[in-house]
Amino acid sequence: MFNLFKKKKSEPSRGDQYLSLKIREIVKETPDTVSIYFEQPEPYLDYKPGQFITVILDINGKEERRSYSLCTSPFVDPFPGISVKRVSGGIVSNYLNDQLRPGKTMEIMKPMGNFTKDFHSKNNIQYFMIAGGSGITPIMGLIKSILINEPSSKVTLLFCSRNEEQIIFKKNIDLLASQHPEKLEVIHNLSQPSADWTGMKGRLDSTKVKEVLSWSEDASKSEKRYFVCGPEGLMSTTLNTLKELNIPESIIHEESFYSDLDAKEAAMKASGEIGPSLTREITVNVEGQDYTYEVAPDKTILEAGLDNNVDMPYSCQSGLCTACRGRLVSGKVDMIEDAGLSAGEIADGYILCCSSKAASSDIKIIIE
Ligand SMILES: Cc1cc2nc3c(=O)[nH]c(=O)nc-3n(C[C@H](O)[C@H](O)[C@H](O)COP(=O)(O)OP(=O)(O)OC[C@H]3O[C@@H](n4cnc5c(N)ncnc54)[C@H](O)[C@@H]3O)c2cc1C
Ligand code: FES
Repeated sequence: MFNLFKKKKSEPSRGDQYLSLKIREIVKETPDTVSIYFEQPEPYLDYKPGQFITVILDINGKEERRSYSLCTSPFVDPFPGISVKRVSGGIVSNYLNDQLRPGKTMEIMKPMGNFTKDFHSKNNIQYFMIAGGSGITPIMGLIKSILINEPSSKVTLLFCSRNEEQIIFKKNIDLLASQHPEKLEVIHNLSQPSADWTGMKGRLDSTKVKEVLSWSEDASKSEKRYFVCGPEGLMSTTLNTLKELNIPESIIHEESFYSDLDAKEAAMKASGEIGPSLTREITVNVEGQDYTYEVAPDKTILEAGLDNNVDMPYSCQSGLCTACRGRLVSGKVDMIEDAGLSAGEIADGYILCCSSKAASSDIKIIIE
C-alpha cells in the first residue's frame, strides 16, 4: 500500500502522490513558530483533519524530508496549512521559519496518517484533547472539524506551553472558545508563566490530567475520545494516567513527533533486549522486485537501501509515520521504534524499515 509514497530517484517526473504547493501566506504564531498556508492545488488537496504532509526540501545540496501535521480543517479552511516550531539546531524547522516567502513552491508528499477520525452530525461525544507545544497543530484541525460537524459533541482542550508568549494559535483558540462557549472548553497549563498568570502552571503531571478530566466530565456524553500529541514527557504522563484510569486504548489516539532512535537503541543494547549488530546481507522486495544489499551495523534497513539506490518509501525516518512499513517474511530484525505500528500489525510481521537493524542473515522484507 505504501508504494504510493515512493520517490522514483531515476525518474524526473514524480508519481501522483508528490505535488508542488505554492506558498500563499506565512503567519508568525509565536517567536519560534510559523504557520505556512498553501494555495489550493488543482485538484484540491484531499486530506483528513489531523493528518500530516511530508515536505521535501533541498537544503545545502541534500534532500531533507520531514513530516508536518496540517493545522487546518478541510471542512472550514479554504487553504491547507502547516505550523512549524523551531527545534534547536534543527535543519528543516529553522529553514522553514527563516527562509520561506509567499509565492515560493514546495514539494510535498500528499497527506497521510491515522491521527484522525470520521465526523458525524449525530455524534454526541466528549473529546479530551491534550496537547503540548507544536502538538497543538493536528489537534487544531480536529477541533475545528468537530465544532462544525458535530453540534452535540463537546471538546475539552488541555494545552501545555512554556509561557504566555509561546502559546501557538492563542488568538484562534480564544476566538473559537468565544464562538462556542458551550462546546469548547480550553485550559492552558504554562510551565514557566509570568508572575501575572493565574491559570494552571508547572509541569504537567498525573494529578493535573486527572483533575482536568474530572472537572470537565459531562455525564450527558456516554462516548468519550482522547487525542494526545506533544513532547515525549507529556505523552508518557498522559498515556500512563489514562491507563491508570482504565480508559480503553481503542478510544485513545496518539501522535508522536519525535523519537530518539540512537538513545533507544543504546538503552535496548544496555538492557540486553537486542544484541550487538553485525553487517548482514538482506533482501528487500519492492513492488515485486528483489534488491539484495548489505546493512552495516550503524545503518537501518532503510538507510542502507537508500544508499544502494533502492526506491524505498519513507517519510519521518523515526519509526512514527509507517510510510516505510514492510512485512518480514524471513529472518530477524531489531526494531528500535515501533510506535507507528498497531499491535495487530506487529503480530502480522510488519516492521518499520527506518527504525530496524538487521539481526540475522536470512532477512527478506516485502514492501507492497
Ligand atoms: C507525524 C509527524 C508530524 C509532525 N508534525 C509536526 C508539526 O505539525 N509541527 C512541527 O513543528 N513538527 C512536527 N513534526 C516534527 C518534524 O517532522 C521535525 O522532526 C522537526 O521539525 C525537527 O526537524 P529539524 O529538521 O528541524 O530537526 P533535525 O535536524 O531533524 O534534528 C536536530 C536535532 O534535534 C533533535 N530533534 C528533532 N526533532 C525533535 C523534537 N521534536 N524534539 C526534540 N528533539 C528533536 C534531533 O535528534 C537532532 O539532534 C512532526 C513529526 C512527525 C513524525
Ligand atoms: S519513515 Fe516514518 S515510520 Fe519509517
